Amino acid sequence: MTRTPQAAAEDAAAELRSRTGVDEYDVALVMGSGWAPAADLLGDSGHELAASDLPGFRPPAVEGHSGTIRSIRDGGRSVLAFLGRTHLYEGHGTDAVVHGVRTAVAAGARTVVLTNAAGGINPAYAVGSPVLIADHLNMTARSPLTGATFVDLTETYTPALRELARRVDPDLPEGVYAAMPGPHFETPAEIRMLRAMGADLVGMSTVLEAIAAREAGAQVLGLSLVTNIAAGLEGANLDHEDVLATGRESAGTVGRLLADIVAGL
Ligand code: 6GU
Repeated sequence: MTRTPQAAAEDAAAELRSRTGVDEYDVALVMGSGWAPAADLLGDSGHELAASDLPGFRPPAVEGHSGTIRSIRDGGRSVLAFLGRTHLYEGHGTDAVVHGVRTAVAAGARTVVLTNAAGGINPAYAVGSPVLIADHLNMTARSPLTGATFVDLTETYTPALRELARRVDPDLPEGVYAAMPGPHFETPAEIRMLRAMGADLVGMSTVLEAIAAREAGAQVLGLSLVTNIAAGLEGANLDHEDVLATGRESAGTVGRLLADIVAGL
């Protein structure tokens, strides 16, 4: 009998509890490219461990994705921050991609905040600005769920959490995030296709984690940082270094936004 991914997440949560001494987390934060420095603006950092210290986690494959897990006390809340994530393009499958979210929910988190770096498709977005994820297009052709798990995704990104984010920043734009499998960026024709389908943002993460979080019964908030304009819209070529540089430059702004949202949860 093969072990379920939920059982693997329970194992990781048990090891997490024994290493941090925290019995129950309230909130999980997944910090995408460019968002990790924002974790420094949150509360009192307690324990920090390498994700690969816990069963089921992979060492990080990509620069800018550090693979660290930080246990933070923020106000009255216990926050579990993942500095870096596993991406589908690393080739370890969907269970590896969502293991962090499942572990956080197994460790008690009822709210999951997913952040990422994204390309801007909507011409209203400026590079360096955060965008609230209103909904998504899962273009990975994958699901983290197997079997007859007909999870309702009508409200994948919890309306009350989106309202909270807009109270914190009334100018925060909202958009639809399209997740592509990567690891390459898109062609201009693919960006025109995504725009025609209703996408405002494009990236390579978040949607499978959001689906797994919803399956596990957690509420989800999604935030993108527009690190560059998507292919073919401005003529410039795309570069992972630029994505990371924009992330570093925007760390203060997005960090304060995130800290204020977490404080309001
Ligand atoms: Cl333009 N595309 C994808 N797939 N991911 C990104 C991106 C673009 N910009 C940042 N991440």
